[in-house]
Amino acid sequence: MIVLAADHGGFHLKEEVKKHLEAKGIEILDVGTFTADSVDYPDMAVKGCEKILSGECERGIFFCGTGVGISIAANKVKGIRACCCSDHFSAKYTRLHNDANVLCLGGRVVGAGIACELADLFIETEFEGGRHARRVDKIMAIEK
Ligand code: RB5
Repeated sequence: MIVLAADHGGFHLKEEVKKHLEAKGIEILDVGTFTADSVDYPDMAVKGCEKILSGECERGIFFCGTGVGISIAANKVKGIRACCCSDHFSAKYTRLHNDANVLCLGGRVVGAGIACELADLFIETEFEGGRHARRVDKIMAIEK
């Protein structure tokens, strides 16, 4: 299950990516926002992260205007490794090398076509482990 979370700046892109993933049969948990009315991205980041930390969702895709604010907020939550991406290489390698569990996309940065491809890559790509596991462990140790 993939959790989607967005503020108003990412709302429209969330809807596009949601449609795309659901059409592929991917199970989605959408924690909002559900309108274009203004909401604060840190609140939405926390809502999305909770679904990952509870084990209900394996990974998340979060959206705000730039993808940056919501990624900064998500990375403050223990256990979350969020990456703001607008290119294919980063979306793939943040899974392979960083075991990222949240992809953040900017509704004012990337179009729906690219966003859907980045979401696909993020969902399909598995963590490589090995030497990268040692580095991810070191990242997680910083939280302690
Ligand atoms: C909201 O206007 C905007 O600041 C937010 O969506 C995001 O881009 C912040 O990083």
